[in-house]
Amino acid sequence: MKEVREAFRRFWPLTRGDRRWLALIVACVVVSALAETASILLFAELTDHALKEGSLAAFWGPAGAWLAVAALGALVGYLGNSLATWTAERFVLRLRASVFRHLQELPPHFFQRHRRGDLVERLTGDVEAIEQMVVSGVVGTLAAAFSAVFYTCAALWLRWDLALATFVLAPLFLLAARRFSGRVRTASQDERVADGAITSVVEESLGNIVLTQAYDRRRDEEQRLDREARAWMRASVRGARLSEMYEQFVEVVETLCVLAVIGLGVWEISAGRMTLGQLLAFAAFIGYLYPPVRNLGRLGLTLTAATAGAQRLGEILDARPAVTDPAAPVAPWPVHGRVSFHDVTFRYPGTDRESLSEVSLTAAPGELVLVTGPSGAGKSTLSKLLTRFYDPTSGVIRLDGIPLTDVPLAFLRENVTLLPQETLILNGTIRENIACGRPGASEAEVEQAARDAAAHDFITALPEGYDTEIAPGTAALSGGQLKRITIARAMLRAAPVLVLDEPTAGLDAVAARQVVGPLRRLTAGRTTIMITHDLSLAPDADRVLVVDGGRLVQSGTHTELSAARQGTYARLAGPLPLPEDTLVLRQ
Ligand SMILES: Nc1ncnc2c1ncn2[C@@H]1O[C@H](COP(=O)(O)OP(=O)(O)OP(=O)(O)O)[C@@H](O)[C@H]1O
Ligand SMILES: [Mg+2]
Repeated sequence: MKEVREAFRRFWPLTRGDRRWLALIVACVVVSALAETASILLFAELTDHALKEGSLAAFWGPAGAWLAVAALGALVGYLGNSLATWTAERFVLRLRASVFRHLQELPPHFFQRHRRGDLVERLTGDVEAIEQMVVSGVVGTLAAAFSAVFYTCAALWLRWDLALATFVLAPLFLLAARRFSGRVRTASQDERVADGAITSVVEESLGNIVLTQAYDRRRDEEQRLDREARAWMRASVRGARLSEMYEQFVEVVETLCVLAVIGLGVWEISAGRMTLGQLLAFAAFIGYLYPPVRNLGRLGLTLTAATAGAQRLGEILDARPAVTDPAAPVAPWPVHGRVSFHDVTFRYPGTDRESLSEVSLTAAPGELVLVTGPSGAGKSTLSKLLTRFYDPTSGVIRLDGIPLTDVPLAFLRENVTLLPQETLILNGTIRENIACGRPGASEAEVEQAARDAAAHDFITALPEGYDTEIAPGTAALSGGQLKRITIARAMLRAAPVLVLDEPTAGLDAVAARQVVGPLRRLTAGRTTIMITHDLSLAPDADRVLVVDGGRLVQSGTHTELSAARQGTYARLAGPLPLPEDTLVLRQ
């Protein structure tokens, strides 16, 4: 019960704006329950007067009234139910949107901890379970409760002593519902988890089909799916068995009640204390009472299944973004692009090793700063801090002298563009993929960006040119070509600060130079931080920073650094003679 209350407290605010519709639905529910009660009473009157006495004159009045009541009940029932479905779907729409919005703000490590398929399942299956709770939960409870109350009142009004005698059996229903609900919740939670696991396995396998085929891992993947599918089957069968057991048990209790009513009725009629019409009406009330009571019992089960879903959505909603908008943000200003790190230390959440230790650096507007260092040194981490995917564990990062934590997030990311190390592609055309760098960019600007990124030529050579559809994991373009599309996107953004993480990885030396050329031109008045292993680009840079083991170990121009024949930079440059070396040898 506590979980149900919690789920309601969490999700009730989402009904804001629809509450008057809820009130109208309740009104419809009350009216249709009243209409049904009235029709049963009319039925008793018909039996006692028209039927028993065989009088047609006594038939027309109650019959007409019954028809009118039935028509009214039908109309109101239709209205109420359509309205209920509409309201429930709107609620689900909002629920999914709010969870999705929250999900989009969560930090990268949240997605490392949760499998994608599981998250997909939460946004589909669990949302549906909650939809059921809203439709059959709120509306169903109300309908069942009102009907039950009215029928009970009518039965008591007809023959209170008989009614009380039959109600003695009612606690049996509650007992059954209580016994089953806990176990149904566990079963449906297991089923949800297994559903998510199946989606995950299928998704991961399909996303990794090349690895599967290249290393012939088909058997392993099948076994993985089989394991999850079996878990799902067990949970699903267990859930179905429990509901079926409950249904059958209720069936038996109902038969018991019917027999009790008939037995008591026979006794009363033989003693002349009751008419047949009264007995029939009474039996009808008791008969009508079962579905709502049964629904109330079932509702417990639906509710527990839904709370399982609600808890899983709650887990997403409880995860906090790693960074949030400042409480007192500074007003937007024309950004020059001076970037500085002051003693920045950073540890990834959940790890105890520092990925960056006391890094201090500055990059002035218009500078092209090249950051290099061995793999795992902390270069990409640097770029993630600068675009505020995380905040430093200690130390400050400033943009134009203003701490990043005081800058509105959207404004920061508008002005500091990141080209991530991974090639990230949208589902859409090449044009859309580039244009998303700056919404509203003209056709000519998109093409100029593609030219600057050395991508225009290969794009126009495609049969459909800029309208070629691409998707993540697409095989229609090479890795280097996709990379150049993402570079064009970053260039189009025209932000004062550009952070490029391995922009030339996957490009041949010619293409790499083609990309760096325009970059040089574009950097006029912009700060560009280029993370790269490709030291052939170093002579183009104003400054080279060398990161090793999370520390900034060397900095200077390429000429200065290569003059020092020891240290990380010399090691990275490798046995290949640097231009300076060549000079020395010639002397
Ligand atoms: N999400 C993460 N959670 C925990 N540790 C991480 C995470 N990402 C990176 N690390 C660790 O932080 C360190 C620095 O990683 P980073 O990605 O910054 O290296 P890099 O210099 O960009 O390497 P590469 O040249 O291979 O791209 C590594 O030791 C890595 O293990
Ligand atoms: Mg990296």
